[in-house]
Amino acid sequence: MAAGSDLSLLKNKVAGARSLTVLTGAGISADSGVPTFRGADGLWRNFRAEDLATPEAFERDPRLVWEWYNWRRELITTKKPNPAHEAVVELERRFDRFWLITQNVDGLHRAAGSTKLSEIHGNIWMTRCTACHRISENHEVPIPILPTCADCRELLRPHIVWFGEALFAADLARCAEALERCDVLLVVGTSGLVYPAAGFASVAKEAGAFVAELNLEPTPQSGLMDLSLQGRAKELLPLLL
Ligand code: OAD
Repeated sequence: MAAGSDLSLLKNKVAGARSLTVLTGAGISADSGVPTFRGADGLWRNFRAEDLATPEAFERDPRLVWEWYNWRRELITTKKPNPAHEAVVELERRFDRFWLITQNVDGLHRAAGSTKLSEIHGNIWMTRCTACHRISENHEVPIPILPTCADCRELLRPHIVWFGEALFAADLARCAEALERCDVLLVVGTSGLVYPAAGFASVAKEAGAFVAELNLEPTPQSGLMDLSLQGRAKELLPLLL
């Protein structure tokens, strides 16, 4: 658990900030029971990303990819936001200038009530048409395989940014703005291994922000942080309020 003096330093930094940005990863949803990617029971320990989360995999076997997303949708639909997601909502309420950047696709930040956010890796509850590119919300569990577009009847894909795909330009622009203008960046529950998100802490730091990491364990990013707190997101984040 984090040292008390570090916690009070961070609490003061947050209280004194005029603009706050939060970057989250799978660790914030781990406290809701959603598996992470690289932990002991992480998804990438049991499944090969190349078979399931690339455009090539979808082209090769869309049924297999949809079955995997169906399984994840079934799992996530039973989970609820936890006190860490709720603390992020409260931070949004307290700051005029606030932005949440999440790598999570589970939708739990939205379910908790976050509204100022970029879901940079997409959202598992959204589909995108492979032909007309229409994006739609879809909460069917299970989703009929293979799902087709209500407009043009072509194949739908999950609205997820897969390995080898670029982030959406509009998301990147909004993130750059939030990282460059913030006084404090909180980096919560991410291993800091997947770019471009893994580079966001250094962008904010170079722009002059105080950058703090809240994670169960040290990460490759810990060295560049102004402060690195170890503990569970659901315990640490509410302490900052
Ligand atoms: P990872 O699974 O790589 O890392 C999760 C991090 O959360 C680890 O550093 C854990 O130590 C930490 N953690 C676990 N439980 C925690 C808790 N209760 N409180 C705080 N921290 C905790 O997940 P991400 O960093 O989110 O991409 O992975 C980044 C991207 O890689 C994901 O968005 C996904 C994946 O491939 C796509 O799906 C495109």
